[in-house]
Amino acid sequence: MSKLIVIGGSKLKGEIVVEGAKNAILPVLAATILNSGLNVIKNCPKLKDVEATVNILEKVGCKVKTEENTIIVDSTNVNSYEIPEELATEMRSSVIFLGALLGRMGKVAISYPGGCEIGPRPIDLHIKALRKMGAVIQEVQHGFIYCEAERLKGADIHLDYPSVGATENVMLASAFADGETYIRNAAKEPEIVDLQNFLIELGVNVSGAGTNVIRIVGGSKLKRSIEHSIIPDRIVAGTYLVAAGITGGDLTLKNVNSEHLSPVISNLRESGCRINIKRNHIHISGPARPRAVDIIRTLPHPGFPTDMQAQMVAYLAVARGTSIVVETVFGSRYKHVEELLRMGADIKLEGRLAVINGVRKLTGASVAAKDLRGGAALVLAGLAAEGETTVTGIHHIDRGYENIEGKLASVGAIIRREE
Ligand code: UD1
Repeated sequence: MSKLIVIGGSKLKGEIVVEGAKNAILPVLAATILNSGLNVIKNCPKLKDVEATVNILEKVGCKVKTEENTIIVDSTNVNSYEIPEELATEMRSSVIFLGALLGRMGKVAISYPGGCEIGPRPIDLHIKALRKMGAVIQEVQHGFIYCEAERLKGADIHLDYPSVGATENVMLASAFADGETYIRNAAKEPEIVDLQNFLIELGVNVSGAGTNVIRIVGGSKLKRSIEHSIIPDRIVAGTYLVAAGITGGDLTLKNVNSEHLSPVISNLRESGCRINIKRNHIHISGPARPRAVDIIRTLPHPGFPTDMQAQMVAYLAVARGTSIVVETVFGSRYKHVEELLRMGADIKLEGRLAVINGVRKLTGASVAAKDLRGGAALVLAGLAAEGETTVTGIHHIDRGYENIEGKLASVGAIIRREE
């Protein structure tokens, strides 16, 4: 079983180039199904979840070629609407194929999606919205969904919660629907804006992404041959900012959009980091020891991202003073806390609330990543801890970070992978 061995105590110094965003590339790859032609996608991260998505594209009939960070999808001959269980359960975002295949093929059969175990992740909002557009959806057997619509029709959809995946699914399904679709209380994440930009390049009539109402007019003629570059990964960037902060290091991150990171930057500044922003670079200088922050509440964008909660908890675990974190997006997303306690952290959990009493030093230990971001948090804690930390379960980390040990080692971290 692969693991990462981290020897803590080095101050990170140097430059890291941040990869393209996992959460943007996945829906964009699914969206290539809408286009019967050649889709050239640049700035793609090399990740397990991207490989899993490519496997699904190939299964439904696309031809896919990967050249360094460019993925070329020829979606001319999509000829299957079934996503087998072993592919769908590899990652939750496979649910995004619901909207894309429904739009292109008029039907889709998919097993209930897998992914991180961060509490119950229902897809009721996706199902409700697609039904409103005329899709007939049945759960054939436990966890297997069959969805059909001879012709989808535009609809006025209000999401009870601004779900990222449900917003994306409706955007994709409505591209071929008859008439106008409105998504109200839509998710406003930058990845939604990137998906809209891809769809516009494709020829879809869509507007409003980044606000809480998105409008799509179905039935536009699509372009067949397009090129798109994926936005930088704000969560990976945020993770490396914390790596600098927690080690008292000095890093320049390249290929970042600081606007996407404003809640993270604001909390890091509050805790004592010095941060300078220049076009698509961020320079951060960490304090000798961070200060606690008042309260961090995870929220849909533009609030503090839930995908940065675990890394921030690791950071605040060594801060001077007491910080409070409230996880409002997911019901149970504190699996990293138990592991941080093994490293000497002082954190009390009460439902969605974490009370973090910063300790002067963490101590290296053997810890297990239970999910993607929680795993990254343990690597960060290891960078700051005294002695050696072994992180197992790193297949979770590989789902969302491209060569994390290589990038950290290039700026002075003592970290290695053992197979
Ligand atoms: C996406 C991101 C994930 C991030 C999350 C929240 C991708 C591939 N993943 O996940 O990294 O943590 O946004 O920013 O982009 N919910 C329901 N019913 C539904 C759908 C969602 O109750 O039908 C709930 C979820 O259980 C969760 C909350 O809504 O509590 C947010 O989920 P959602 O925004 O849908 O997250 P994902 O799209 O799965």
